[in-house]
Amino acid sequence: MKLKDELKGVVPQDLLSLVPSGFDIIGSRSGAVAIVEIPSELEDYKYEIAKAIIKSSRNVKAVLRRIGPRSGEFRLYSYERLIGDTTEVIHIESGVRLMLDPTKVFFSPRDQYDRIDLASRVNDNEVIAYLFAGIAPYAFIILKHKPTVRLIYAVEINPEAIKYIEVNVRLNKARGKVVPIEYDASAFCRKMRDRFHRVIMTLPLGAHQYLRDAIGCVTNGGTVNFYHTGPEEDPFKDAEEAIMRHCANVNVECRIINRRIVREYAPRVYKVRVDFEVNKGK
Ligand SMILES: C[S@@+](CC[C@H](N)C(=O)[O-])C[C@H]1O[C@@H](n2cnc3c(N)ncnc32)[C@H](O)[C@@H]1O
Repeated sequence: MKLKDELKGVVPQDLLSLVPSGFDIIGSRSGAVAIVEIPSELEDYKYEIAKAIIKSSRNVKAVLRRIGPRSGEFRLYSYERLIGDTTEVIHIESGVRLMLDPTKVFFSPRDQYDRIDLASRVNDNEVIAYLFAGIAPYAFIILKHKPTVRLIYAVEINPEAIKYIEVNVRLNKARGKVVPIEYDASAFCRKMRDRFHRVIMTLPLGAHQYLRDAIGCVTNGGTVNFYHTGPEEDPFKDAEEAIMRHCANVNVECRIINRRIVREYAPRVYKVRVDFEVNKGK
């Protein structure tokens, strides 16, 4: 049953249209967290809304209300906890088990199709630098689809995310394939020049500042998966201009090999992925 229907007679008729039509669920049958946006007009009914969510989805053990946009270098939302004690869950995606607490680490279940698409492009024996890894969902999905990948370094600065990567390496039997590195992405790339067949840059609001370093650490002929945002009218333009500018600055030839709209990021703004090949002419 829809939340609006569930809340008829609880929320006054003139406010019913403001009841959220959906919410994100992170977790699995063993336990999940629901994340919901509740407008301020419904402040007095927030606990009723949380109870209705729990009633509609039996696996939901906690309800978090999202307050404001993602912020800080760890890219976290602020939440108000409406119901539930624990927010640590095991999320299952494409058969991969991901333990996480959304109040401590970045995770978006909405990127699942992008992960599958990217994983389908990975070749045998690739050594990958996965920058801005969070709890490393792309690494585990890649490994699931392409077990012949050689090694994925998951580079991340949030120590809580690093702890979850370690747990998820155990849960997904990924020892020796996915290696967590608690390090700044830029410093990591500068130490590892010309080393990676692929560099994945999952930081849509800041990855462009690291393009020079990413180009430096990819092998000749290697691929960079670059994330950015762009307006509905021309979603890839800014991303491609940033790529071409940085490639020209370091005197390498770059060829765009794939463009993808990942999902809506904000009204009339998309999160995009542009894949490009780097030719260093060596
Ligand atoms: C948008 S999240 C993406 C996380 C993950 N790849 C995913 O898709 O769920 C970006 C992550 O980059 C991390 N981060 C931000 N700046 C960083 C830096 N300079 N070096 C390494 N990690 C960084 C943040 O802590 C955050 O976990």
